Amino acid sequence: MCGIVGYLGNKQAFPILIKGLHRLEYRGYDSAGVALVNNNGELNVYKTKGKVKNLEDYCTDKDISGTVGIAHTRWATHGEPSDANAHPHYSQTKNLALIHNGIIENYLTLKKFLISKGYTFKSETDTEVLVQLIEYVKTEHKLSLYDAVHQALTQVIGAYAIGIIERNNPNVLVAARKSSPLILGIGDNEFFLGSDASPIIEYTNKVIYLNDEEIVKIERNKEVEIRNLKNVVLKPEIKEIEMNLEDIEKGGFPHFMLKEIFEQPKSLNLCMNGRLQKELNEIKLSGITDFGDKFEKANRILISACGTSWHAGLIGKYLFESFCHKPVSVEVASEFRYRNPVIYSNDVLIPISQSGETADTLAAIKLAKDKGAFIYGICNVVGSSISRMTDSGTYTHAGPEIGVASTKAFTTQVAVLIMTALSLAKRMNTIEDSQYKKIVSSLAKIPEQIQEILDNKEQIENISKIFTYAKNFLYLGRGYNYPVAMEGALKLKEISYIHAEGYPAAEMKHGPIALIDEEMPIVVVAPHYSTYEKILSNIEEVKARKGRIIAIVSKGDTEIKKIADYCIEVPTTEECLSPLLTVIPLQLLSYYIAVAKGRNVDQPRNLAKSVTVE
Ligand code: G6P
Repeated sequence: MCGIVGYLGNKQAFPILIKGLHRLEYRGYDSAGVALVNNNGELNVYKTKGKVKNLEDYCTDKDISGTVGIAHTRWATHGEPSDANAHPHYSQTKNLALIHNGIIENYLTLKKFLISKGYTFKSETDTEVLVQLIEYVKTEHKLSLYDAVHQALTQVIGAYAIGIIERNNPNVLVAARKSSPLILGIGDNEFFLGSDASPIIEYTNKVIYLNDEEIVKIERNKEVEIRNLKNVVLKPEIKEIEMNLEDIEKGGFPHFMLKEIFEQPKSLNLCMNGRLQKELNEIKLSGITDFGDKFEKANRILISACGTSWHAGLIGKYLFESFCHKPVSVEVASEFRYRNPVIYSNDVLIPISQSGETADTLAAIKLAKDKGAFIYGICNVVGSSISRMTDSGTYTHAGPEIGVASTKAFTTQVAVLIMTALSLAKRMNTIEDSQYKKIVSSLAKIPEQIQEILDNKEQIENISKIFTYAKNFLYLGRGYNYPVAMEGALKLKEISYIHAEGYPAAEMKHGPIALIDEEMPIVVVAPHYSTYEKILSNIEEVKARKGRIIAIVSKGDTEIKKIADYCIEVPTTEECLSPLLTVIPLQLLSYYIAVAKGRNVDQPRNLAKSVTVE
């Protein structure tokens, strides 16, 4: 939700900021803006409704000079997308300009106070209140920008990652964070700010991850200064990040989503690298080697996540219950956090998150942590807030995922859940050795089997063209493939705006069957495993009502082929691994339908990749 970028150094800031905004546009794209202090000390703010490209066009005849600046791409929370509500926001005297990602919860109280002091407002945003408050504190107490930001933030309730610059002061940029992500890049006499590392890595791999309630002063030709809200001065901890530029570029694909779908054999290999030891036919997960006892002692496992990560969590339940004989409850984080759930100190919570910044998942962790549970995270972004809040865990190593619709993050999350459940089962002796070995060797083959499905993309593309007329889709699955059906439906909804529901195949009889007519496409995830006969009957039930069936079947299937209108084959594997294969045609199906309908696949309307507000 909202992307922020900042620069202070010897280069012109504008091109660096714009490039950074393009990289962060996945976080929000309803308006964008930039603020720069030029050589004469003037503070210029330019902002427009719409995408970053609009901002670039808008700026063509403007003074965009300056070696310090901040920029923002917005996902609206307070106030509709408009020029006035876009960031950066000026303070009353136009001496300050600020960008913000997050929500200031007590902004109405602060606004009332500022109005009583003669301040007027041009936007409906909570952000404008913050910049006015900083200006008020600064003038009232005659403070430096750094001190004023510190003082003002002590009065603020809510979440923020901010960057702020000042007229007549091209040498200072101040930033701060609480509950919204912010990374500081340290170059050679230059500094970068970013909501994530993508706007930074082209210039430096040295970064400082700001922690909650920390404020940083970036000053030209000086070391950065960091202190927290309690006014404790902190020693900056510089880390090196591993990320390549190719990882965050499209590399010849028309969309990031397609690139990321095709990257899955590679991302799964990276995810399993060093963990799945082919020669020994074993899995070694350091998190389980070191902290497996926490799982062993636990009476149950809780899984909490949002969106696609929640679907991966649902598959986790089947895995842990079958192999480790532990009861598992899986819940969307936004419900879990406000439900006053019963959490025991010997519970293990597995939060799952691609970004590591999802506000509700973070809150679920805090809640479980407060009650003494052990937190074992599954996360993609190294150094993210979630990864830093957990007691232990496993990175998915999928590489940066930029397409708003999650693809490779899902398959790597499922792979980590499989590896976790298997290593734990082995440790607890709840799995037969022969079964364990069989699954491990099948898991090693998954990347090449995914490639086989990807090589069949034309068939899937052709099928997708037939169904662009549809207004509704139903996705059905059973067992391990029920969450896959939900994930397939979510993908379609997100990027094509076609309504779709994922349902347990047999449960269809209790409602959705009423929707079926000769127009209705029904995607049935029906590989040949334990519930094959059952799902075959469900397909018959659909056919009897003239629904149009697209079935995902195992290679060599003969029965479903006789009934379904279209069959897409996937290679055979162990049942518990099948989601890693069956989800691939569903990702491609939704991608090609969305493209055929002319949708903006990487930036679907109203969505944002990283949901840092609740
Ligand atoms: C947003 C994204 C989804 C993602 C969900 C959870 O809705 O668009 O793709 O699954 O957030 O995000 P997380 O980063 O926690 O996995």
